[in-house]
Amino acid sequence: MITSPIPPVVPAGQMAKMEQPVLALPSGLELRPWRVSDADALVAAAHEPGIRQWNRLFVTSQAEARERIERMHARWQNEQSALWAIAQPDGGQAVGLIGWGDIDLQGGSAEILYWLLPAGRGHGAMAEATQRVSRWAFDDLGLHRLRLCHAVANSASCRVAEKAGFSLEGTMRSALLHEDGWHDEHLHALVRGDI
Ligand SMILES: CC(C)(COP(=O)(O)OP(=O)(O)OC[C@H]1O[C@@H](n2cnc3c(N)ncnc32)[C@H](O)[C@@H]1OP(=O)(O)O)[C@@H](O)C(=O)NCCC(=O)NCCS
Repeated sequence: MITSPIPPVVPAGQMAKMEQPVLALPSGLELRPWRVSDADALVAAAHEPGIRQWNRLFVTSQAEARERIERMHARWQNEQSALWAIAQPDGGQAVGLIGWGDIDLQGGSAEILYWLLPAGRGHGAMAEATQRVSRWAFDDLGLHRLRLCHAVANSASCRVAEKAGFSLEGTMRSALLHEDGWHDEHLHALVRGDI
């Protein structure tokens, strides 16, 4: 066995034993685990042109949406991703998604994913949700560096990054293939101690 003098930033197994919390936002919205009954919202998101374009979300049926939601819970257990629904409290329907993908506990990093259905947009919800899940990632999970990547053409997402305090570190050329071709992406990041 190869042993490293550098310890893992977060020990393996730490996330799996945490229960996914419900996180309140200052605006009154909450972040809560996805439910199978949110399948409609996922199907609606996949049909929304902005989400389809920028999140590359393709879901064709209710059954596929339910499968994806079940996979979200499995991926928490496997310490791969941590995704929340954005919703009104007390059982409100999901209007958005936010959370961490590409979680690397050993290296202490993750990349944010988010979208909002049009009904939830226009009130700054994503900047506050981004700040809340970043706090969780540093304080509760113990990560060190958080990435936020978006197509340069996606100005709303760039503004969300700025408002949430993620510094722009550069442009990644031809970084992601979308339906309409390759897009350059901005790399923003937040490092423990920045907030
Ligand atoms: C990106 C997204 C989550 C932002 O939703 P939101 O939190 O409701 O954003 P808001 O409408 O409050 O706008 C946030 C900021 O961006 C600005 N903004 C919004 N649309 C913009 C546009 N087209 N161009 C430039 N700025 C824009 C707003 O003015 C606001 O800045 P301000 O507070 O300084 O005025 C939402 O638009 C969305 O889901 N879009 C489609 C999918 C997507 O882009 N996903 C992200 C992939 S990286």
